[in-house]
Amino acid sequence: MNILVTGGLGFIGSHTTIELIKNNHSVIIADNLINSKIEVLDKLSIITGIKPTFYQIDVTNEAKLEEIFVKHKIDGVIHFAGLKAVGESVSKPLEYYYSNLVSTMLLSKMCVKYGVNKFVFSSSATVYGEQEPPLKEDMELKKTTNPYGETKAMSERILTDTAKANDDFSVSLLRYFNPVGAHESGLIGEDPNGIPNNLMPFVTKVAKGQLEKLSVFGNDYDTIDGTGVRDYIHVVDLAKGHVKAIENLEKGVNIYNLGTGRGTSVLELVNAFMKVNDINVPYEIVGRRPGDIATCYADASKAEKELGWKAELGIEEMVRDAWKFEQNNK
Ligand code: WQD
Repeated sequence: MNILVTGGLGFIGSHTTIELIKNNHSVIIADNLINSKIEVLDKLSIITGIKPTFYQIDVTNEAKLEEIFVKHKIDGVIHFAGLKAVGESVSKPLEYYYSNLVSTMLLSKMCVKYGVNKFVFSSSATVYGEQEPPLKEDMELKKTTNPYGETKAMSERILTDTAKANDDFSVSLLRYFNPVGAHESGLIGEDPNGIPNNLMPFVTKVAKGQLEKLSVFGNDYDTIDGTGVRDYIHVVDLAKGHVKAIENLEKGVNIYNLGTGRGTSVLELVNAFMKVNDINVPYEIVGRRPGDIATCYADASKAEKELGWKAELGIEEMVRDAWKFEQNNK
């Protein structure tokens, strides 16, 4: 199939592009490079032997977006493009609502207009709000703690209503847990601009000596060692889940958790990183981060049953691959 991947030079988008090409799909990437690098395009060519068609556009630009639908016969869309820093969304809500909602609305409009009937959306476990894990797809969604999470919940509703109004238009809403790690080549990986918000890229930059030490946000949670527990999933497993989702898209609205079903604490992850990579990561226990919850992990059984997809890589591969990328990343 001919797949339009928005945000295809970003962390998850680039890894998904590799898996799509490995499965003999052709990929068109639209990316505005606000949180990605053009060098990733060449790395995708090195890894796959194929250079995807690339448009440097913002998918909130309707005219530029429509040009792609006019020029190419697109069979499906995987929509990653958007702003995704939880903390930043609190201080810049309008930017987040505009970017994340207008992009979803315009892409839906173009799909309906040009008869593109397969739409896979990059959603997030954040939409569940604070609920008792394991989180299941049929749970009622609770209000999230930030505008970023609200844009994911609202985008899900936009796509759900568009699918209900257009019989042929089918969507798959993929709710990610905590994507970490990198492609085995070490050529691409999580490469956020500036000081990382997320745990793993912060750990790798401390290991590399670029940051002095890791602040562990709280060790007084009701968890195995008091630190936050999350469902970390290898980005390559996550990418494979997208290929399964677009290849097995049932009619209507489909919702899947893409997680491992296992929880890992901050200290368990940091200790695994130090052990597997034989390197020290200095850290200090500090106060809780506002908005954090104690424990979050998936019930991942629905994706396994309906898509034939299950995460295969463990924490050891995640910390090994994340470190290999950081060491290569200049
Ligand atoms: C993980 C754990 C922190 C940094 C967020 C978004 C979610 C998704 C993934 C986009 C927590 C602790 C972290 C640090 C720490 N993003 N931590 N020191 O908050 O679970 O999820 O990123 O889809 O939508 O909400 O991920 O990596 O920020 O935190 O102790 O410097 O690590 O308290 O327990 P989070 P995270």
